[in-house]
Amino acid sequence: MSERTAAYPVADSQVTTGVIGDPSPTAGAHRSPGEPLLQVEDLRVQFTGRGRRVNAVNGLSYELVPGRMMAIIGESGSGKSVSSRALMGLLPPAAQITGSIRFEGRELIGLPDREMRKLRGGDIAMVFQDPARSLNPTMKIGSQITEAVRAHSDLDKKGAHARAIELLRLVRLPAPERRFHEYPHQLSGGMRQRVMIAIALAGNPRLLIADEATTALDVTTQAQIMELLVELRERLGMAVIMISHDLGLAASYAEDVVVMYAGRAVEQAPVHTLFSNVRMPYTRALLGAIPALEREPHSMLPVTPGQPPDLSALPKGCPFRPRCSNATDKCLEHPPFLEHEPGHSYACWHPAGTELDTAPAVTAALTPATEAAHQSTAHDQGAAQ
Ligand SMILES: Nc1ncnc2c1ncn2[C@@H]1O[C@H](COP(=O)(O)OP(=O)(O)OP(=O)(O)O)[C@@H](O)[C@H]1O
Ligand code: SF4
Ligand SMILES: [Mg+2]
Repeated sequence: MSERTAAYPVADSQVTTGVIGDPSPTAGAHRSPGEPLLQVEDLRVQFTGRGRRVNAVNGLSYELVPGRMMAIIGESGSGKSVSSRALMGLLPPAAQITGSIRFEGRELIGLPDREMRKLRGGDIAMVFQDPARSLNPTMKIGSQITEAVRAHSDLDKKGAHARAIELLRLVRLPAPERRFHEYPHQLSGGMRQRVMIAIALAGNPRLLIADEATTALDVTTQAQIMELLVELRERLGMAVIMISHDLGLAASYAEDVVVMYAGRAVEQAPVHTLFSNVRMPYTRALLGAIPALEREPHSMLPVTPGQPPDLSALPKGCPFRPRCSNATDKCLEHPPFLEHEPGHSYACWHPAGTELDTAPAVTAALTPATEAAHQSTAHDQGAAQ
């Protein structure tokens, strides 16, 4: 068993606060090749109020390599959005954030607001679920994109206009010159999401976070937007984190998957490894809850038996213990998140499919669509399906 020395495991004693590492703006310029773009290490976010302390993110660690497409999946309330908002410096001031988020080697926790604002929408950009709420209904879309372009460049009005049209073409918005002069309500949901992606690309991000960016769309439009993200990732060389409830979508488009439970990563692996060799009983429960043949190609995460944990009163040891068919007394100890197999990390004392597995074997069922996606060499090459 090997241990990921860079990010895994991180003991409680290593929890840090405030400014960590090198906060200088040029820190990213001295990186060696192969270094992760993003290293999240023992990230914790707490919200305190009304006599309760909610541990929304509870020791999250993962790494993202430049140019990769990574999916973060997990049940509602597992901390996917809060952890991503922490990356963007978008949490309310009352949130207590500890741990480390290093982007291109530069520590983001404790970064001055001015620096964080420069980074946000610049090197790191985010697209949300509901473009109707993210766009200003009273402003023409052209003005909204031009504004984003000017915020992240020295272009004059004419140059920013030309760049905005170029971005609308890049996201394949039909008739960009005409749409430039239209209001958000004149566009379909898919077109509005393309506009949001264009705005996100205005600062030439090296990391794009798409938080349920296709959830509100119909299946066909959803696939078109995912294909667009795959294409843009290749053309622009940026990394993408897609946050999703949709297993089929994650399996079809992502290269790496992080499974979150109770505010931490519990399993991480390249997509094919994860779906064909599930180790974490929670991931197995997610995948095995619906037989493959009954599952729609883009089925949502199935409901796993039992209740998600109360984040203000987490159980001792493994947070999945009350719902886990493999649980033993050993699970009263906190399982560390370790790289047990090359590229495959998980946090479990009795991993599925090993001699330590005490539950009956369940084949991690994939949908016919996702199996086809795995077999496709085009997917491995990152081509749009
Ligand atoms: N501002 C806040 N104050 C208090 N608790 C919060 C706040 N924001 C989020 N939380 C809590 O943090 C936990 C994690 O929320 P988060 O939005 O990250 O979940 P999620 O995994 O994105 O879920 P979903 O799939 O439903 O979007 C939840 O219990 C949520 O209620
Ligand atoms: S550590 Fe124990 S309770 Fe947690 S997932 Fe593994 S077997 Fe289940
Ligand atoms: Mg969310």
